[in-house]
Amino acid sequence: MSRTYVVTGAASGIGKATKELLEERGEKVIGVDIHDADIAVDLSTEAGRRELVEQVSAHSGGRIDAILAVAGLATPTATTAAVNFFGTIATLEGLRPLLAGSAAPRALAVTSMASLFPPDDELLAEFAADNEEAALARAAVLEAGGAETGGLIYGTTKRALALWIRRNAATANWAGAGIPLNGVAPGIVVTPMTADLIQTTEAREAILQMVPMPLNGIFEPRSAAYLLAWLSSEENAHLCGQIVFIDGGSDVVIRGDSTW
Ligand SMILES: NC(=O)c1ccc[n+]([C@@H]2O[C@H](COP(=O)([O-])OP(=O)(O)OC[C@H]3O[C@@H](n4cnc5c(N)ncnc54)[C@H](O)[C@@H]3O)[C@@H](O)[C@H]2O)c1
Repeated sequence: MSRTYVVTGAASGIGKATKELLEERGEKVIGVDIHDADIAVDLSTEAGRRELVEQVSAHSGGRIDAILAVAGLATPTATTAAVNFFGTIATLEGLRPLLAGSAAPRALAVTSMASLFPPDDELLAEFAADNEEAALARAAVLEAGGAETGGLIYGTTKRALALWIRRNAATANWAGAGIPLNGVAPGIVVTPMTADLIQTTEAREAILQMVPMPLNGIFEPRSAAYLLAWLSSEENAHLCGQIVFIDGGSDVVIRGDSTW
């Protein structure tokens, strides 16, 4: 029998590739995005997040098997903080009750290798405190500071999300309810999000200095989709709070032995 997957960010890039892969395999996918999706909602707003839960409940008859929180923004703006952290957590927490009827419930979110970059500590602390108003105020200050400070927002959202997954995966709500909760941290993937970064040879060389990918380099979203599909499948019953780097090696090059 097919499973029901909710994929946010399903209109483009990694989310779209994952939706297509799951559908090719005969699974039912409810696609969510701000446009061009089964459910069109804006995950940067509280109203959009409420509507997400209402509409997924209606579409699924109140029972789903997996949550794939893929939607994200990489602009140096406060909206990126709203979508990547609070929108993603609201997706995971808001849809979690709908997993209760599944024989093999699964949940994951897409972080990034950019979570390894130095964060803005003040913004990180507001994410950890789950204070959206203060986080967005801090992100607005970073945005107003121009490219250098605005550029800290994205990596900080992804670090905060990875930490949230680590801190929650083993709790009663997730592991205690039989739900593996994990993250995926891609390196550079060919999607509209990275189009400007990889358009020219010079740009590609510059970005690969920051994100070294010795194993097969920049890749297509389908490769990430295979991992997302496995993590959200029945076969994954024991991964708990792992952030799986699918990054051509940037994590091992940047962090080396320091994770042990
Ligand atoms: N492309 C990469 O190199 C890369 C690397 C690391 C992590 N990621 C992460 O992977 C995820 C997917 O990114 P992608 O590369 O496929 O980008 P993408 O821009 O192709 O897709 C992102 C999708 O999220 C949707 N989205 C953005 N804001 C939204 C909102 N407010 N409400 C609802 N949906 C919204 C967009 O409409 C879009 O369809 C993101 O979380 C991104 O941060 C991407």
